[in-house]
Amino acid sequence: MTLVEEFPEIRVRAPAKINVFLAVGPRADDGYHELATAFQAVSLFEDVIASHDDGFSLSVSGPIDSSGVPTDERNLALRAARLLAEHAGYGGGVRIDIRKEVPVAGGMGGGSADAAAALVACDALWGTGLSTRELQGLAARLGADVPFTLMGGTAIGTGRGDALNPALARGRFDWVIVPNALGMSTPDVYREFDRQAESPAAPQVPTEVLHALRAGDARMLAEALHNDLQAPALRMRPDLADVLEFGETNGALAGIVSGSGPTLAFLAESRIEARSLQQSLERAGHEALTVYGPVHGARIV
Ligand code: C5P
Repeated sequence: MTLVEEFPEIRVRAPAKINVFLAVGPRADDGYHELATAFQAVSLFEDVIASHDDGFSLSVSGPIDSSGVPTDERNLALRAARLLAEHAGYGGGVRIDIRKEVPVAGGMGGGSADAAAALVACDALWGTGLSTRELQGLAARLGADVPFTLMGGTAIGTGRGDALNPALARGRFDWVIVPNALGMSTPDVYREFDRQAESPAAPQVPTEVLHALRAGDARMLAEALHNDLQAPALRMRPDLADVLEFGETNGALAGIVSGSGPTLAFLAESRIEARSLQQSLERAGHEALTVYGPVHGARIV
């Protein structure tokens, strides 16, 4: 039996992320900023289906508007597949179909999840058998958030955000996510940050964040939620501040801009509180989703 007959296609699911804490340090010579962040993988997923082909191609479908997603060589999942083929000396190609649930250019790592899932899917499809460490190395070359969506769970990220240490986390945190139709460019938000902020030389994740995650205590985590990219994102998109305030006065323990935005993430006391906030937001005309974390990283389903 050939490999093609044995594994006609591989489906991998990878999660979105929320940065429950994000401190931005100085900009390095490579253009990246030093970060100290706490990531949580949440139950909003990208599915990547890889099947054998001679060349490399990609399509995107799913419940959300993916018209802004490139399907050519700029696509991070395609770049991931090519990088793996090159690294492993694989001579064939792959057809990649992405089923999207994570908002595009939303600050939740949707593109990074696609890349992480593509690495895992192609590795299985092609039988290249890379170690987790090797896959993590390729992930870091693709983007700062790719190693985390590969790993999942809860983790502290330093360096560009790609040097990861798993963090102990107990229980479940319930979130309400408010996507926004107009995506934001991550480099633009970092540039706006540079215009005004004094960044600390060595940013750190405070112990309060680690305690709250370890205790599984949503109230404690709500007190510690912080994102240095929130102020620049709100300067670029002042309309988001009203939605943040609406969420915080309608049952959220706290709200935060997710990553570089514009998606907003509200932490709720429980699943029931999250559902009630989601309904309030929807009644006020906002799209809102309930999710929970932490969840697993990219894996075959
Ligand atoms: O690695 P990724 O493609 O996600 O990064 C997108 C952009 O975000 C980078 O080109 C850079 O402008 C900015 N960035 C940064 N510092 C980081 C991560 C991202 O300045 N640690």
